[in-house]
Amino acid sequence: MRKPIIAGNWKMNKSPAEALSFVEALPESIKKEKRVEMVVCSTFLCLDRLSQSLKDSNIGLGAQNMYWEDNGAFTGEVSGKMLSDLGCNYVIIGHSERRQYFSENDISVNMKTKKALELGLKPIVCVGETLAERESGKTDEVVKTQIEAGLNGLRVNSGNAENLIIAYEPVWAIGTGKTCDTPEANRVIAMIRTLLAKLFSQETANQIRILYGGSAKPENIRELISTSDIDGGLVGGASLEAKSFTKLVENIL
Ligand code: PGA
Repeated sequence: MRKPIIAGNWKMNKSPAEALSFVEALPESIKKEKRVEMVVCSTFLCLDRLSQSLKDSNIGLGAQNMYWEDNGAFTGEVSGKMLSDLGCNYVIIGHSERRQYFSENDISVNMKTKKALELGLKPIVCVGETLAERESGKTDEVVKTQIEAGLNGLRVNSGNAENLIIAYEPVWAIGTGKTCDTPEANRVIAMIRTLLAKLFSQETANQIRILYGGSAKPENIRELISTSDIDGGLVGGASLEAKSFTKLVENIL
């Protein structure tokens, strides 16, 4: 049984004080929940404060990007090692906004994912097609390339499969209110699992959690997770308020 995951992607939202208010507004029952793996991914600025305020809870802490070198002359970057030292345990890698606006590609995704796994950080590796790619029938081809190139050469086996998390996020469904319909999201995610079985092994692929992202919300999360292959959500807009985050978790219990 794969443990479901609700991961909030706060993007460039919330000051450290606002992040703290979010945690304070969460019910104790959610903070202590064990049946769902819960994560909030904040800006770098909030991580320190959040790591203190979440330390007695079951909610994991994630960053939204990292660099693969430990330190050095890389102005403006933050290393995976620094995140790990701070108490961060997850990191989003290759989000479509990073691919679109900050020139991330499958090669940088690969380097970052390798490093994250080495450090014991759980990478949440994002893949997904644009609207133009979907409309020209290229969804499967695009996702296949992103998975094969992004995960090339990774050492993943049944011992660490739970540390690698994939998120299928069709770009056209992100922040638009348009969800990919559930059978189609599950079809692409099942295809990703087949690719993972080829890259690693069937046993390993069966253990890797694959999330759906793109206008996921309390109202549709249960349907998404009731499919054969969708193991949870990477949620943007609907993860920003404590109430809505709580509902996302409660609705899959
Ligand atoms: P959304 O964002 O839930 O606001 O569509 C998801 C994401 O970008 O991870």
